[in-house]
Amino acid sequence: MTLLDLLPSIGHAAPRRFDPAIWPTTASSDEDGRLCIGGMPLADIADEFGTPAYLIDETDFRHRARRYHTALRDVEIVYAGKSLLTTAVARWAREEGLGIGVCSPGELAVALAGGLDPSRIVMHGDTTSPDELRDAVAVGVGRLVLDSSLDIAYLAGLARRRQRVLIRVTPDTDIHGHRAVTGISDQTGGFTLTGGHAAEAVRAVLAHPILDLVGLHCQIGSQVCDPARYGEAIRRLIAAMADIRAHHGVILTELNIGGGHAVPFLSGDAELDLDVLAGVIEDALDEACAAEHFPRPAVVVEPGRGISARAGVTLYRVCSVKTRPNGHTVVAVDGGIGDNPRVALDGAQYTVALANRHARTQRRAVTVAGRHGEAGNEIARDVELPADIHAGDLLAVAGTGSYHHSMASNYTMVGRPPLVAISGGRARELVRRETIADLLVRDCG
Ligand SMILES: Cc1ncc(COP(=O)(O)O)c(C=O)c1O
Repeated sequence: MTLLDLLPSIGHAAPRRFDPAIWPTTASSDEDGRLCIGGMPLADIADEFGTPAYLIDETDFRHRARRYHTALRDVEIVYAGKSLLTTAVARWAREEGLGIGVCSPGELAVALAGGLDPSRIVMHGDTTSPDELRDAVAVGVGRLVLDSSLDIAYLAGLARRRQRVLIRVTPDTDIHGHRAVTGISDQTGGFTLTGGHAAEAVRAVLAHPILDLVGLHCQIGSQVCDPARYGEAIRRLIAAMADIRAHHGVILTELNIGGGHAVPFLSGDAELDLDVLAGVIEDALDEACAAEHFPRPAVVVEPGRGISARAGVTLYRVCSVKTRPNGHTVVAVDGGIGDNPRVALDGAQYTVALANRHARTQRRAVTVAGRHGEAGNEIARDVELPADIHAGDLLAVAGTGSYHHSMASNYTMVGRPPLVAISGGRARELVRRETIADLLVRDCG
C-alpha cells in the first residue's frame, strides 16, 4: 500500500494516481481506493451493468471538443465518427458545434438520428456503393469526399441537385517511424498527387457541372505527433490547388487535412500539441498562399481519437491469476480481442489500473490476457499491477474511447459489451450489451 493510498488527504501534494494525460479528465480515486469517473465509482457501474463494459465520460468528450475550438479558432472541426459513434455521441458533437465525418450508411443514419444537420456531415466515399451514394445525396449530406473514379461517375449519374464534393489526395508527406500508414501513396484510398492521378480526378469531376468541386482532402496517417507534417501537407495541397486554378480556372475554397492527431496511451507518450498545430496551419497557409498568390481556403480538420480516445475506459473483471513456470504472472479477464482488437491488429499498448480497491502490496509486471484463448490475445503486457491481484478484482483500461466500441466483434460468439455514459453524477447505457438472443436472431437457420 502506498502512502497516498493510506492517507488520501495528502493527494493534493502527491502525483495523481491516474495520469490526467491518459485518463479522463474527471478520473480520481475515492477513500476506498476505487477509481471514479465523473465522481462515480467504477465498481458501482460494474455492479449495475456487468463487465466487460465500455465507459465514456461525456464531460471529457465535451472538454476535448472545446479544446479543439479554443486552439484552432478559424478551423472547422469535423469529428471522425468512425472512432466512436452513437446517437448520443452525435448529439454531444452537435451541441459542441462539431460537424461529423461518416464513412458508411450506418454512421450516416446514426449521425442523422443524433440530430445532426445533414449539411454538417462530411461523407467519405471510400468504397461506397452506388446505392450508398444515392442515399447520402438524398438526405443532403453537406460534402462528399471522393476517392475513386467510379465514385465520381456514379455520383454524377445519380445527383439531382448540385452536390458539394472534395477529392481525396495522398500528399506523400514523410511519416517514417509511424506505425499506421494512411496517407502514403499506394497504401490506401485517395488519388496520388504525383503521376497525374489527382489531376485526372479533378478533370472528371469538373466535367460534371452537377458536382461542385469545393476542395481537396487528405489523411496523412494516424498517431501523428509532429505538427510539421500537417504544414507540409498544406503546402502540397495549396500547390495542387494552384495547379487546378492554372489548368481549369477554378478556385477551390476548402482544404480538409483529415485527422490522425496523436494522443498518449502510456504516461510519457507524445501528443500532438494543438496550439503548435494552430501556428503551423497559419504559417503554412500564409507561406503557401503567398507563394502561389492563392486566396486562403477554409481549413477543416477531422479528429477522431483526439476527441474520443481518452473519454473512454474499458472495465473488466479478473477471472483468474496464473503464474507461468517462468515466474511471469498472467491475469485473465472477461473480455479480450472481441472488445479490444487493436492490440492484435497493430500492437497498441494501454495503461491498466486496479479499479475497485487500494493496492495492499507492491506492484509487479503482469500480462493482462483476454478470454479468447488465442495466441496474441492480450490486452496489455508488462503492466504494473498489485501483487495481490485476484479473481473478482476490477481492471480499468484507459484510452479505449476510440476504435474499440466501433471495431468490436462478437468473435467466439461473445456478445459485444454495453457502452455506458457517465455524466452529471449518473451512468446510463448508450448501447446495451449484445445478448445471445441478439446473436441468434441473425442466424437464419
Ligand atoms: C478520412 C479520415 N478522417 C479522419 C480520421 C480520424 O483519424 P483519428 O481518429 O486518428 O484522428 C480517419 C481515420 O482513419 C480517416 O480515415
